[in-house]
Amino acid sequence: MSQGRFITFEGIDGSGKSTQARLLAAYLRAKGEDVVLTREPGGAPGAEEIRRLLVEGDPERWSAETEILLFTAARRDHLERTIRPALERGATVISDRFADSTRVYQGTTRGDLRKLVDNLHDMMIGIEPDLTFIIDMDPSEALSRGLARKSGEDRFEDMGAEFQFKLREGFMALASAAPERCHLVNGHRDPDAIAHDIAMLADLAA
Ligand code: TMP
Repeated sequence: MSQGRFITFEGIDGSGKSTQARLLAAYLRAKGEDVVLTREPGGAPGAEEIRRLLVEGDPERWSAETEILLFTAARRDHLERTIRPALERGATVISDRFADSTRVYQGTTRGDLRKLVDNLHDMMIGIEPDLTFIIDMDPSEALSRGLARKSGEDRFEDMGAEFQFKLREGFMALASAAPERCHLVNGHRDPDAIAHDIAMLADLAA
């Protein structure tokens, strides 16, 4: 059976990546593709329960190490129940965040925990996306957009501006470390213009 494509969107909070994930899903569906649009943390019923533990409440609620375990548990559930079955039937899976978020949010911002993140990923997840769009955005602008939403899921936004600057650096470093998979996209433009570029890149990589 043909294996589907796995595409992920990454970026700091408020970067506009969820909008872009939706727009790419709509574009590919309009072309007749079977598309599963999903997100992390979450994307399966159990993983959505774990999501609430992670994104709500006091910023100090969990250490970075505990977060790595919780995000990996949620990802494993998402992989087993949503991602793998969809790829196996040949669908295109578009996920709003995946393992790159753990590499950056948990792996580099609060001490160097990248090795722990990588080891757990190899043991428990073991797949990489075919294509990743990293939406780049000025952290001050992104933070005001993200917090303005008042989603009740602001635990990471509440870690402050300095944290968001570190995240941006982390995503840029990831983009240059994996250029065959990652496209860094300028997020300071009209959403439709960004979506147009992303659709072209997705078509080119198909
Ligand atoms: P979202 O706002 O994009 O839905 O993501 C929820 C929050 O979880 C966001 O602040 C980023 C954070 N996060 C991590 O810290 N590590 C991860 O592995 C993932 C998937 C998300």
